[in-house]
Amino acid sequence: MAFNATVTINEVPVTIFRKLYEIESRPLGVAILVLFAVTYASFVLTKSSPEAKVPFVGLELGSLSKRKKKYVTDANALLKEGIVAGQRFYTELCDFKDDELSFKGSISDLFATHYTGVLISDDLKELAINRDLTPGMARLTETLEDEVNYIVGKEIGSCKEWKAVIMNKATQNIIASVTARSFVGMDLCRDPDWLRISVDYWMDAFAAAKSIKFWPVFLRPIAARLMPQPARMHATRQEAQRLVVPVLKKRLDAMQNDPDYQKPDDIMQWMIDRLGDKAGTDEELHHQAHLQLALAMGAIHSTNFTLLHEMFDLAAYPEYHEPLREEYREALKSTGGILTKVTLNKLLMLDSFMKESQRYNPPGLTNGRRKTLKDLVLSNGTVIPTGSNIELPAGAVNADPSIYPHADEFDGFRFYKLRKRSEDDMNKHQFVTSSRDSLNWGYGRHACPGRFFAVDEIKVILSKILQSYDLALVDPAAGRYKNSSFETMVIPDMEKAVMFRERAV
Ligand code: HEM
Ligand SMILES: *[C@@H]1O[C@H](CO)[C@@H](O)[C@H](O)[C@H]1NC(C)=O
Ligand SMILES: *[C@@H]1O[C@H](CO)[C@@H](O)[C@H](O)[C@H]1NC(C)=O
Ligand SMILES: *[C@@H]1O[C@H](CO)[C@@H](O)[C@H](O)[C@H]1NC(C)=O
Repeated sequence: MAFNATVTINEVPVTIFRKLYEIESRPLGVAILVLFAVTYASFVLTKSSPEAKVPFVGLELGSLSKRKKKYVTDANALLKEGIVAGQRFYTELCDFKDDELSFKGSISDLFATHYTGVLISDDLKELAINRDLTPGMARLTETLEDEVNYIVGKEIGSCKEWKAVIMNKATQNIIASVTARSFVGMDLCRDPDWLRISVDYWMDAFAAAKSIKFWPVFLRPIAARLMPQPARMHATRQEAQRLVVPVLKKRLDAMQNDPDYQKPDDIMQWMIDRLGDKAGTDEELHHQAHLQLALAMGAIHSTNFTLLHEMFDLAAYPEYHEPLREEYREALKSTGGILTKVTLNKLLMLDSFMKESQRYNPPGLTNGRRKTLKDLVLSNGTVIPTGSNIELPAGAVNADPSIYPHADEFDGFRFYKLRKRSEDDMNKHQFVTSSRDSLNWGYGRHACPGRFFAVDEIKVILSKILQSYDLALVDPAAGRYKNSSFETMVIPDMEKAVMFRERAV
């Protein structure tokens, strides 16, 4: 049983543990808990981690570079081989505290934050999102709709006859604008410079992290000064300050001096209000600019990919269009013709379609990345050594036929039918639900806090598109556009177009 291997994530040596635990009632290779032990000691490049005392997958591939290559091009195969453990361990892992099993620690490894300056801030989640954005969603629906009408009109536009729109930039621009409207308001959401940096920062962060992790640990401080990518990150933060600080100052000034000033309803304003007197200090002005950039980095990329997958699925499965339109018309009628949060909550079929699309095309084959800061002992005595990075097998759970019957079939109303079964089920299978059976938003304390916003945002966009346009694949006979993969990422085909034609209203 015992054999060892090391592969890497982003140039960091990673050991994939195999058969750590018993298989519970799930089929082999599906109910798995994937444990990646990451260690920086260079001997791990060639050997397994001695303290881990567990077997690994992939050694049969031979050299380290072959194992790396396999991970980059076909992580799915390695993951399927990977470790086996019951889903009960997910819950157990959730019980560890942040100083034992750390979300920040894993992000810090992923983005080499020490060198790239990627911000990991509790303010983002606790203040901006949990306390203000999510509870504020009811007020934001109208704003979302307004910006969606504007940007969809701009990106897809008028088309009396069928026209092909390459989705590449369109989804990105739609998401960047709608997100910015809710986060930084009218002041910046149509500013091309802000839109550009809020979209590019994510890619830049990956490139910068990669450029650093290429070097051995002891050379990284020097590399960080010499490589152009980290410098670019710094320049972007400077640009964010140049754009955001004047807007903050303008708002603070109006709040003090203009008795008729109507405060915008967006994250930037809520943060200002929370800060009170401190808001105008240089330190806070700079921090707020950086925070907005970090927020955009977390919010735009993942929603962009999700929207793109959903557009492809909508185009590929035209049989869903009419039921979804009908559902929207009914919901809108029930709220007096005005689109509100209540209307969105009534779109159960759309919610189901979106969740099925995500099950089929998850953001990653693994997620819920955490780093152990102590040796952790699981209930059956297994030790996960300090410094390990752990991820949950979201992709394998999505494909598990014991959880999702006919898991390999796309059934857009799968979750709708589940929710209709009983009152209890009504709340269990929403798109926003994160559970052991649905790990695509992550799991536990750090499950994506932005998902309530993202789901409403996408619902407004898709509803607008469905009401305004017919849509189709360029070549329906060829079927839904294939995804590609890089490491554990599932990537929609960036070059593909969707056909649109305006509907008679
Ligand atoms: C469809 C779009 C999105 C997807 C698929 C997604 C997915 C995820 C995932 C998988 C995680 C990690 C969870 C874990 O490790 O357990 C996460 C974390 C996070 N997401 Fe999202 N996300 C999306 C949209 C957003 C949006 C719109 C925002 C901001 C409003 C956001 C803000 C965050 C933040 C701040 C975290 C870190 C949470 C923490 O510190 O505990 N995300 N997201
Ligand atoms: C959005 O998705 C498109 C298509 O896959 C891609 O070309 C673009 O780089 C993405 N942008 C971001 C910020 O993720
Ligand atoms: C964990 O439990 C399984 C089955 O109960 C067992 O095979 C495995 O050896 C256990 N691991 C440890 C470290 O005890
Ligand atoms: C990616 O897209 C294809 C469509 O060609 C689909 O069959 C597959 O399930 C998708 N998801 C993943 C994780 O590859």
